[in-house]
Amino acid sequence: MNKLFISNWKMNLAVTESIDFSNEISRTINENIIKDNIEIIICPPFISIPYCFQILKSVAKIGAQDISKMNEIKGAYTGEISAKMISDYADYVIIGHSERRTNLKETNQDVSLKGINILKNNMTPILCIGETEEQRKTGEHISILIDQLNESSEGLENKMIVAYEPIWAIGSGNSCNIEQIIEVSSEVKALCGNGTPFIYGGSVNEDNCKELLYQKEIDGVLVGSASLNLNSFNKMISSMNGD
Ligand code: PGA
Repeated sequence: MNKLFISNWKMNLAVTESIDFSNEISRTINENIIKDNIEIIICPPFISIPYCFQILKSVAKIGAQDISKMNEIKGAYTGEISAKMISDYADYVIIGHSERRTNLKETNQDVSLKGINILKNNMTPILCIGETEEQRKTGEHISILIDQLNESSEGLENKMIVAYEPIWAIGSGNSCNIEQIIEVSSEVKALCGNGTPFIYGGSVNEDNCKELLYQKEIDGVLVGSASLNLNSFNKMISSMNGD
């Protein structure tokens, strides 16, 4: 199975900044000889996607950070962007990120509807699940994660990438330790099958990226803030070349 390096820009970089940054990262990727089994996926804000696609198409795939849950390719849904619209550019779409679950009150059912739209348009959902610090402390994290996964992946027939993103690890500088991630990986693979890629996100950076990607139980990383820093991006990309 390929190893995935996914960069989530979140609500950062205006269009001109996205263009400049895409040119920089294209140069970085070109300068490094990336192993064949590594796939780089860049997830800019919607408004920048067509520009980033043009610049990055020879070195990386594009992912969207969200999509409409409405079951139609067009229509009277102010502010929405359909999976069909984005499918000219993107191969992947992130769904169920905890920032959307918390700030926009997205439910597991919303996430599943989005996932179905993504599959219908020949893209792959990157389905995020994660527990709070409190839930981990009380030891209920595994059952919470499994419930979240079961409900959010309804109708997806395991044709998604599962991204384990503990809420307490995102943007905190405290990554989950490898044993904790492997525990979740084996539960997810037991539920979804070995063919379903399992990736980790939450304070991935140039210091831990290589070790995470090295684990056979971890099929990739989802990186936020560190991937927006050109120096860190460069270090993470070059660390993937080492054996
Ligand atoms: P972070 O974000 O790398 O900044 O912790 C990861 C994510 O939310 O996808």
